[in-house]
Amino acid sequence: MNIFMTGATGFLGGRLARELIHRGHTLCVLARTPEKVKAMFSQDELSSITVLSGDLTAPLLGADDEFIARHDESFDLVLHMAALVKFDEELRDELFETNLTGTKQALGLAKALHCPRFFHVSTAYTLGAREIGDETLYATDQAFHNPYEESKAHAEQAVWAARRDLSVSIFRPAIIVGDSKTGEADSKFTMYGYMRALEVFKRRLERKGAPVGPIRLLGSETGTSNLVPVDYVADVLLAAIEHARPDTIYNVTNDAPPRNETMLEYMKQALEFPHLKITETAKSSLSNVEQTFNEMVKVFNPYLNRNISFNDTNTKRLLQDAGFKTLDLNERSLRRIVNAYYETK
Ligand SMILES: NC(=O)c1ccc[n+]([C@@H]2O[C@H](COP(=O)([O-])OP(=O)(O)OC[C@H]3O[C@@H](n4cnc5c(N)ncnc54)[C@H](OP(=O)(O)O)[C@@H]3O)[C@@H](O)[C@H]2O)c1
Repeated sequence: MNIFMTGATGFLGGRLARELIHRGHTLCVLARTPEKVKAMFSQDELSSITVLSGDLTAPLLGADDEFIARHDESFDLVLHMAALVKFDEELRDELFETNLTGTKQALGLAKALHCPRFFHVSTAYTLGAREIGDETLYATDQAFHNPYEESKAHAEQAVWAARRDLSVSIFRPAIIVGDSKTGEADSKFTMYGYMRALEVFKRRLERKGAPVGPIRLLGSETGTSNLVPVDYVADVLLAAIEHARPDTIYNVTNDAPPRNETMLEYMKQALEFPHLKITETAKSSLSNVEQTFNEMVKVFNPYLNRNISFNDTNTKRLLQDAGFKTLDLNERSLRRIVNAYYETK
């Protein structure tokens, strides 16, 4: 299959691009820094890749008339996964420009190229403040935790509206973590942002040399972290290449997510930092030291703090149709994912 792909230089995209190439597909990838593509992929892999130098925020992603004429009807699929994955309120305009306008430009390019299918990688957290996630389109006039979720919810609406012109599928991963078999991850965000903050915080305390007592982290003791390994998310997208049903939404989520307490235990052991405890207490009761740490990780709290149930019936059926395994993220894999992060530091 000939695929036009955005986000191939990212954490999920890099992994998926390699899997696609190894299965014999050819890729044209959007890259704002084409040298990054050359540096990331082997010579052998590069022989299956061409590059469109551009940007999500440019009209038709930067494709000119010559590109469009040359590639008219040549792609079987547009696989759109590039996005700005940051949660800060100050980045609201940039998030909407990249994630919403960028998605509209990707749709515009798919139409200009007369491409029949469009895959959109969204996030499970377009559900906003709901505690149950369905595989249906969510309203955008609801509460969101940050402009990232909101921009992605609006982008889903744009994709859904385009199904008049081409067949669309929306994939909503939860929190993507490293490979379930090796632990390897090329990510600095979500759980990795949290783990990094723990490490920085530990080092700061060690430098001060003062005795360390219990440190409370704000969060739900019974809450869960909806983690999905990158190989599982890639598998779902690979299965979808042949088996996705048109105009369908897929929650790429974990229906047996680990408890926050459990994940923190693995992190404490890997980091040799036993003083941490998750607790639901008032912020005002925290010491200055505790407040400093909780401030460092506050953008991650909506994801490591709740107990959401996601319905992933469509995804399970997709995997079954393709003969792929469903998710089994056991303790050994979770420990490996946490340990791999701290071992490479
Ligand atoms: N990571 C997660 O936990 C998670 C969870 C749920 C959903 N998702 C979704 O999964 C997708 C991939 O996420 P990821 O974790 O792989 O993200 P990532 O590692 O941050 O990669 C983002 C990709 O988007 C590209 N990109 C960003 N802004 C761009 C722009 N203006 N023009 C062109 N390309 C641009 C980046 O290119 P550069 O290499 O040039 O920066 C990179 O290839 C995103 O749609 C995200 O919303 C991620």
